[in-house]
Amino acid sequence: MFRIRRMTAADKPAMMEISALILEGNDYLPTVFDAWVADRNGEFAAVLLGDRLVGCGKLTFLTPADAWLEGLRKDPRVTEKGLAESLGRHFLGMLADRPGLASVRFSTYVKNAASIDANERMGFMLRTRLSLKTWEGTREQLAGRAESAPAAGQGAETLRDTAAVQAFFDGRGYFTATEGLLVDGWKAYPCSPALLAARYVTAGRCRGVVVDGEIEAALIESPAVEHRRYAVRIVALESRDDRSALLLLDDLRARHAAAAPPGSNMAIEWIVPNVHRMKEWCAAWGLSSWELEDDYLVYQFPLDRLPGFVAHGKGGSS
Ligand SMILES: CC(C)(COP(=O)(O)OP(=O)(O)OC[C@H]1O[C@@H](n2cnc3c(N)ncnc32)[C@H](O)[C@@H]1OP(=O)(O)O)[C@@H](O)C(=O)NCCC(=O)NCCS
Repeated sequence: MFRIRRMTAADKPAMMEISALILEGNDYLPTVFDAWVADRNGEFAAVLLGDRLVGCGKLTFLTPADAWLEGLRKDPRVTEKGLAESLGRHFLGMLADRPGLASVRFSTYVKNAASIDANERMGFMLRTRLSLKTWEGTREQLAGRAESAPAAGQGAETLRDTAAVQAFFDGRGYFTATEGLLVDGWKAYPCSPALLAARYVTAGRCRGVVVDGEIEAALIESPAVEHRRYAVRIVALESRDDRSALLLLDDLRARHAAAAPPGSNMAIEWIVPNVHRMKEWCAAWGLSSWELEDDYLVYQFPLDRLPGFVAHGKGGSS
């Protein structure tokens, strides 16, 4: 029987040991552990068998109304089943009587059968399918590609007018194609003008091509904090023409090849909506799927079923 309590700083060594054994050693947990322990809005939960720490999960509030489940991990040396379901029920119980809740979601990879099975069994339903596209290599490989691209870095500028950026993406239907989600790695935020402004545009994370005062193309990016490599996420990319889209991708490549320390392993990632021309930009530029299309799934819990979940007591257990 799993027990659940809040994670503490003292759990870090044991949790890091588990993290190193899963996801081929590429787990992002080490980079977020301290911030997750400090997050008092949500809950970073430790899962125990007896007194032994065997896993974790995190409830995060993307906004006060939007709950996001992430960081689900189990020690692969543990054979007891049902950790995902125990933790899911714990979090759903905590959310059951929260006023004003608008969404409860998580994302997963299409082949993650353990996560999908456990969550579907609890009642989570598939909401959105997107495609995870990545380029991976060394900084030197990326720099080489940038130098060979004649337009690299030219013609692009930082866009600071949030209203114009928002109008451009809205007018082209980008966030309709993502079904209202602003996808930043494995987190998918409900897209809003406030988020776009605060997290990206005023932070200088939007580059664009502007012709005669009009946005021709725009790319929003986010630095991905990863354990062992320098990674960059494309959060959104839209363009009126193919050339400007590829120009912004080359601009991104040139800037980050210059910024990364020599010898870095690098990753560039875009979770792309199901739009043919966007997938053509990916193919032209070298962003490819791990195995298949439509591999990034966002699940959602039907809110009308939440009252059925009984909240566990403080530091609750399952
Ligand atoms: C996700 C994770 C926490 C699940 O642990 P768990 O809940 O204890 O998993 P279980 O062993 O109880 O499996 C849950 C269900 O998934 C299914 N399942 C598990 N592994 C499977 C596999 N390799 N192939 C097919 N189905 C599988 C089974 O249907 C199982 O239910 P069952 O009781 O009917 O057998 C664990 O697998 C893990 O730590 N994975 C690595 C990290 C990760 O992927 N996190 C999730 C990110 S979204």
